[in-house]
Amino acid sequence: MRALVVSDLHSNAAALRAVFKRVRRKSFQEIICLGDFVGYGAEPNQVLDAMRTVRPKKFYIRGNHDRVAAGLDDGRTFNAPAREAAFWTRDHLSGPNRKFVERLTVGPVDHGGVLLCHGSPYDEDEYVFTESHAAQILESFDSRLILYGHTHLPVIFSVATNGVVSGTLVRGEGKFHLDPDRRYLINPGSVGQPRDRNPDASCAIVDTQRMTVQFLRVPYDVKKTQETILRAGLPRILADRLALGT
Ligand SMILES: [Fe+2]
Repeated sequence: MRALVVSDLHSNAAALRAVFKRVRRKSFQEIICLGDFVGYGAEPNQVLDAMRTVRPKKFYIRGNHDRVAAGLDDGRTFNAPAREAAFWTRDHLSGPNRKFVERLTVGPVDHGGVLLCHGSPYDEDEYVFTESHAAQILESFDSRLILYGHTHLPVIFSVATNGVVSGTLVRGEGKFHLDPDRRYLINPGSVGQPRDRNPDASCAIVDTQRMTVQFLRVPYDVKKTQETILRAGLPRILADRLALGT
């Protein structure tokens, strides 16, 4: 499998377009999305139309914001701006896009030996930040590679045969060679709302034959996305944070 892996697009069409443009000359057979197509941003239909019609094979799973935007959950656990944006999204989705988010596959799902989930394999809403949490997951699930999103942070956790887990927050771009004797829990970061104080869209190209993961950071027109958020009347904080990468 050689896949472009994206997550947490969050209705940011300019960021997604920039990612697609950046990877145009790179070869991959499929696109994997780990959820949160929508929420926070003001361009849910542009993002969903692009993701539904993009050429390569697609393998997509649902995120917690997709669940609330689809009306499958009342968003009670969300903070106020997130909830407001999810409800706004619910009101603005086109018919086909609403159906698409309603029917998204719920993780965890095994995809050719790679386990895909939004939050963690235990729970769509669970955040994986720490090595001890990663250790617990890598102990419970025996996939060689687990891909997850939700935290909006590009991260590699790995476990050696002696059970010791180490984690790295990936700063900027970088290509990593995966050790066949280790198992991995990898987050490609967020396309539409990065939170590692780098506003550039984040994604990864995962190659399970060559055992490599290439993290990419892609600048995009943040101002343009901020304007769409403010024009839609969504909370200002959702626009402001994009410039800070928080
Ligand atoms: Fe998210």
